[in-house]
Amino acid sequence: MSEHHHLSDSAFLKAVRGEPVPHTPVWFMRQAGRSLPEYLKVREGTGMLESCMNAELVTEITLQPVRRYGVDAAIFFSDIVLPLKAVGVDLDIKPGVGPVVADPVRTLADVEAIPDLTPDQVPFITEAVGTLVSELAGINGGTPLIGFAGAPFTVASYLVEGGPSKEHAKTKALMFGAPDVWDALMHKIADISAAFLEVQVAAGASAVQLFDSWAGALTPGDYATYVMPHSARVLERIGALGVPRIHFGVGTTNLLTLMGEAGADVVGIDWRTPLADGIARVGDRGVQGNLDPTLVFAPTDVMTARAAEIIEAGRQAKGHVFNLGHGVIPSTDPDQLARLTEFVQSYPLA
Ligand code: CP3
Repeated sequence: MSEHHHLSDSAFLKAVRGEPVPHTPVWFMRQAGRSLPEYLKVREGTGMLESCMNAELVTEITLQPVRRYGVDAAIFFSDIVLPLKAVGVDLDIKPGVGPVVADPVRTLADVEAIPDLTPDQVPFITEAVGTLVSELAGINGGTPLIGFAGAPFTVASYLVEGGPSKEHAKTKALMFGAPDVWDALMHKIADISAAFLEVQVAAGASAVQLFDSWAGALTPGDYATYVMPHSARVLERIGALGVPRIHFGVGTTNLLTLMGEAGADVVGIDWRTPLADGIARVGDRGVQGNLDPTLVFAPTDVMTARAAEIIEAGRQAKGHVFNLGHGVIPSTDPDQLARLTEFVQSYPLA
């Protein structure tokens, strides 16, 4: 690769724009984090949210998997609840549990008490993204940075439940039972998530991913009525900046068409949906995914045989970014992800 290689020539950005690629680009959701010994080392003695607000740590942690694997994109190290913390919501990320909110949101007054996000509340984001973009420009001929935010439904689930939940029962009870409160909450979170993404894009992020991890809890009808318009507003605001948008959720086989129509250039497909089915559902858009994250625990040849099937299926898409079907499992062997990266990047073009 030329030393004067431009970021927009990167395999990742070509794939998300649906252009021919030099190889199938690959990155991994949760590529930074507990599977890496170097992450555990730098995180020692520092809480998760504290780490996310420290520009130097964010920069180091984001770069760790790029150095180790040579993946085709970096993803900004942060969390979907970080912007809520930044505006003053009393919450923490508990190790092994996830986000925990001290005073769950149930009423209109609760929603109205949440301030909007302004860029001056997240100076550490602007600083970290700026440093990352200049460092990444010199790695493997230019590695793009993906910014991200949580989608309104998934963030609402933490705010309403007060913590992680399996059924999202309180969240859906609010959605079905108090549509006015729900609407206000979704507007509030959509504005916060969009502002969080705008800060990352303004500082130089090349693409964004909107995580609606728990949207799979919804029927297509309820998704279309109660959730999609709000995610669509977030995606529209980022589209206006000219930045490609990836939209991902788990267990979303029946929602993939709608998630694309919400305004995504690329739809993330979880591993339960065969990639070819996902491609048919998203129509004229790119796809990202979708190796079962547990396949890295299988023998290498079993893992790479499945990866080959996914790469082959991905050729029918407008563009394909290889990824796991959800995040890297913390007990994953990094050497196995290194082998997977190498396999995908050296897999012959059709
Ligand atoms: O992908 C990356 O490498 C970037 C970092 C990233 C984190 N969270 C760091 C993190 C991203 C993109 C997220 C997004 C996120 N956070 C999502 C959407 C993605 C998905 O997995 O579906 C969700 C649902 C959350 C909420 C959240 N935060 C959960 C469920 C957890 C895990 C709880 C646990 O400990 O198992 C967190 C904490 C968290 N976010 C960790 C990391 C590295 C672990 C905290 C630690 O290392 O102590």
